[in-house]
Amino acid sequence: MEKQKVHYSELGLSNTREMFAKAMAGKYAIPAYNFNNLEQLQAIITACIETSSPVIIQVSKGARSYANETMLRCMATGAVQMAREAGSTIPICLHLDHGDTFELCKSCIDSGFSSVMIDGSHLPFEENVALAKKVAEYAHQFDVTVEAELGVLAGIEDEISSEHSTYTKPEEVEEFVKKTGVDSLAISIGTSHGAFKFKPGQPVPPLRFDILEECEKRIPGFPIVLHGASSVVPEYVDLINQYGGKLEGAVGVPEEQLRQAAASAVCKINIDSDGRLAVTAKIREYFAKDPKEFDPRKYLGEARKELVKLVRHKNEAVLGSAGKA
Ligand code: G3H
Ligand code: 13P
Ligand code: ZN
Repeated sequence: MEKQKVHYSELGLSNTREMFAKAMAGKYAIPAYNFNNLEQLQAIITACIETSSPVIIQVSKGARSYANETMLRCMATGAVQMAREAGSTIPICLHLDHGDTFELCKSCIDSGFSSVMIDGSHLPFEENVALAKKVAEYAHQFDVTVEAELGVLAGIEDEISSEHSTYTKPEEVEEFVKKTGVDSLAISIGTSHGAFKFKPGQPVPPLRFDILEECEKRIPGFPIVLHGASSVVPEYVDLINQYGGKLEGAVGVPEEQLRQAAASAVCKINIDSDGRLAVTAKIREYFAKDPKEFDPRKYLGEARKELVKLVRHKNEAVLGSAGKA
């Protein structure tokens, strides 16, 4: 059977253009939460409805192959319908996180995504430009918005691995944005993916807000994206370690620094690891406290409840997106 081609507008989704313009003017950031399964998606949408927050639900290449790409896309559109049936009009964007090829971006655009990221950050500048431009030209025919990246985050970006970060060079951003026509730009200012962002037991080095400011000066009003923005919530790390996990030394970005970023030209803040930690902490706790239980709805239900709390907290107290829908 042929894969069905569908435009995101038929699915009730929004691209990022208006979301980012409002976030820039209102000095807050749109949350971009990753999901791979039903409970994560239910929790994200529930919390965003409850806090009246615009939201970007994003999937990686790995998430698409884990859940099956058609299943995942249908879950996302099911979530939109669920929100509308609950009487909520919050804008919901379905975004590809860290797309690594034109073909992957095209496949997402053709199947109803309203936004895609093409991550050519590991490529030489001109190759990154050429790839991002090709994706932007295709995407814009369908009014799908495109995020690209300049500078490399430390850690693992899907299958692209880089041990050391390379901060974004502010002198490159203007030319990149002009030549590619992309709609937003992810930059590297000291964050990284995963739960081990900084050295344990040492003061967390502040993010490079000087680089962010330099970028803002060169592309005023242009939406900037911050990846690797989990706080690695210490309470979850402690719970995980208390109940048999081994996450000693996990450290994330302090919330205060994320608040500062959200009030700047950073319009999108990506959070995945904190959600994973919340789910794992609650499941470990559940298993330890009730070893006889074997109904997944019980322990996944607890995990989902915690994830609602986490997303509410991010929207209300960190990103400032609550009440902005
Ligand atoms: O930046 C990467 C995201 O956290 C997605 O991770 O590739 O393991 O799904 P993943
Ligand atoms: P975290 O690992 O800090 O949650 O970052 C997620 C991310 O950037 C997804 O693209
Ligand atoms: Zn990322």
